[in-house]
Amino acid sequence: MRLVILLAAFAVSVSAQITYQAERHLITFQTASSTMVLGVNERHELQTLYWGAPVPGTIDFGEAHSTPDRSSFDPSQTRTREEFPGWGGARYYEPAVKITRADGDRDVVLKVRAMNITPTAAKIGLEDKDGVAVDLLYRIWPELGIIEKHSVIRNAGKQNINVESAQSGVWYMPPGDNYRLTYVSGRWAAEDQISREPVHPGAKVLESRRGNTSHNANPWFMIDDSHATEETGRVWFGALAWSGNWRLSIEQTPYNQVRVTGGFNTFDFAYTLLPGMSLETPAFYGGYSGQGFGEASRMLHRLEREEILPGGVKSRLRPVLYNSWEATTFHVDEPGQKALAAKAASLGVELFVMDDGWFGKRNNDHAGLGDWFVNKAKFPNDLQPLIGEVNRLGMDFGLWVEPEMVNPDSDLYRAHPDWVLNFPNRPRSELRNQLVLNLALPDVRDFILDALDRLATTYNIKYFKWDMNRSFSEPGWDSASPVVGLKMPGTPDDQKKVWVEYVRNYYDILQKLRAKHPKLEIESCSGGGARIDLGVLKYVDEVWTSDNTEAFDRLRIQEGFSYAYAPKIMSSWVTDVPNMNGRSTPLQYRFLVAMQGALGIGANLNKWADADFTVAKSMVALDKQIRPTVQTGNLYRLMSPRDGDVTANEYVAQDGKQAVLFAFRHSQEYDLPAPTIYLEGLDSRATYTVTYLGDRTEQHTGAYLMHNGLDLNLKGDYASTVVVLNRDH
Ligand code: GLA
Repeated sequence: MRLVILLAAFAVSVSAQITYQAERHLITFQTASSTMVLGVNERHELQTLYWGAPVPGTIDFGEAHSTPDRSSFDPSQTRTREEFPGWGGARYYEPAVKITRADGDRDVVLKVRAMNITPTAAKIGLEDKDGVAVDLLYRIWPELGIIEKHSVIRNAGKQNINVESAQSGVWYMPPGDNYRLTYVSGRWAAEDQISREPVHPGAKVLESRRGNTSHNANPWFMIDDSHATEETGRVWFGALAWSGNWRLSIEQTPYNQVRVTGGFNTFDFAYTLLPGMSLETPAFYGGYSGQGFGEASRMLHRLEREEILPGGVKSRLRPVLYNSWEATTFHVDEPGQKALAAKAASLGVELFVMDDGWFGKRNNDHAGLGDWFVNKAKFPNDLQPLIGEVNRLGMDFGLWVEPEMVNPDSDLYRAHPDWVLNFPNRPRSELRNQLVLNLALPDVRDFILDALDRLATTYNIKYFKWDMNRSFSEPGWDSASPVVGLKMPGTPDDQKKVWVEYVRNYYDILQKLRAKHPKLEIESCSGGGARIDLGVLKYVDEVWTSDNTEAFDRLRIQEGFSYAYAPKIMSSWVTDVPNMNGRSTPLQYRFLVAMQGALGIGANLNKWADADFTVAKSMVALDKQIRPTVQTGNLYRLMSPRDGDVTANEYVAQDGKQAVLFAFRHSQEYDLPAPTIYLEGLDSRATYTVTYLGDRTEQHTGAYLMHNGLDLNLKGDYASTVVVLNRDH
């Protein structure tokens, strides 16, 4: 077999980069905090030799050799750690690609054919002898400690192939049988609940089958050696950039390979490739932290802030937002919104968002979705007077939309009943009285892009809250063809492309909208947090964390969120009490909980007393002072809401000049003082001016703050405080 190797022409002396050692057929990925080594074995398979803490030298790894057969039941192929195994030969673990050829042949054995290596990117071409080719694409961010992998599966043969599993890639921990998996699960209004459990022999699957990312699970994992804590120990992690049906399969094989395979969900999956066609899988980011879960989270946060979010490091801090939903629900009109806007502006709000109810015949959730024109009964003078007033008050204007959806009671549905996902002659599940438009259809994609573009062009709209208030059901697409957009007779399997093409068109609309309206910002919402992942974060500025705005519940939701996602994008509102659970917490508590992310206010300001406005104004002013540290700093989860009475989170500015500590107490018992809080991430030798709420100050060294800690006077139920630490000189 001939191996084609292309190396970048420039010098390969820098230690953090991708290198190829020809004599041993090794590809080494070096980042500041991790090393991954791949090799080509004697069968020309690409083998994972190592992924974990940095191993800087080049002497340690010899040529890759496949693992020998142990018995007729344990053949070499299934014991060898293949980087991207096809389903073929005697392989019994989760494959990275599985196909059926038109002639019925389903065997895929992938061998390395070509490599193109540069210091920060690599393309490794794999081929089966019979028409299936896979390009493995890698990128590294040496400073961030992140490696990205994904695959492109190509039909390089002469017959059609049907792809039944298309995975982005596989991450291997070092072999072992004592790992733990950390992940989140949840449901509507209770997203991001953390689970931590041993990895056992067999497989554990985390997934969405809903068309969106889902409230029930989120596409990331952390695996530790069972000894990691927040700030110590070995943690491997990965996150998949996909907002549709995704799947992570976490396996421990009988030979203690521990592997995580991730990509498109294989459930109801089929993607036919005619000769010459290809299928690109989502990016799968991975990293290694030698400093526990906290550092793993901070690495993901940094990746998002610097490389994934629109504008990257240049993107602005999130403004303080007001949203009308919990105040007015569907009953929006010009005088009502203007009154709320005046009150919001008096608090220091910078972005006023009118939520649901402004369009079509939208008086409740039974009608109107799809009719993206202004309801003239509610806004007889159109939206300009409201937007003008919002702008005059010094705020930007934002608008809620739910573009992928349609109520059967809408002009859009009456005109295009054939645009919805459904199986003809079968009942269709209406959830919240709405159906899902088949966004995979080019006509639907164009309609949605036009509707949003028209709104952003006609009005001075700076922000869309893009909602999606139900998952798919009955995902039929009877006009599907093998090549999307071309009128060709399709097979039933072609309809299953909807899972992929829908999401691609969603991204396409977001991307085009942003390109045409560079100042427009977008929030991703799906009945709360059902569309949050590294895929959508390429196109949106913040996300709606949960429809549950009850502050005590939020502490746990926000903790789970923070495992993978940056505080900057975490939209959190202060709302009225009693809230969910019938619980009432003080206004200061609610503010401080929300100020740990991108602060919003969703309360009915018409009902607020003067004293509430006084508290809120000072909290908003404080938020504006500390938000650079909160939104772009390093997060230390000092005390978990899952572990006891007190929750504490600390944010340390990237330049180390400021730290902000938030602390919350649920319920004091027996007059016990709150536990001492030990800070993290400070400079031991520096002195800090410590400012408590109410402006009392003290001076302490970083060493004292980290080793003696602070005793905060948190008394009673739902006590809360914030402490700002500014480094002296
Ligand atoms: C969803 C969102 C809410 C609100 C409503 C409007 O539930 O998560 O914030 O926008 O829809 O119908």
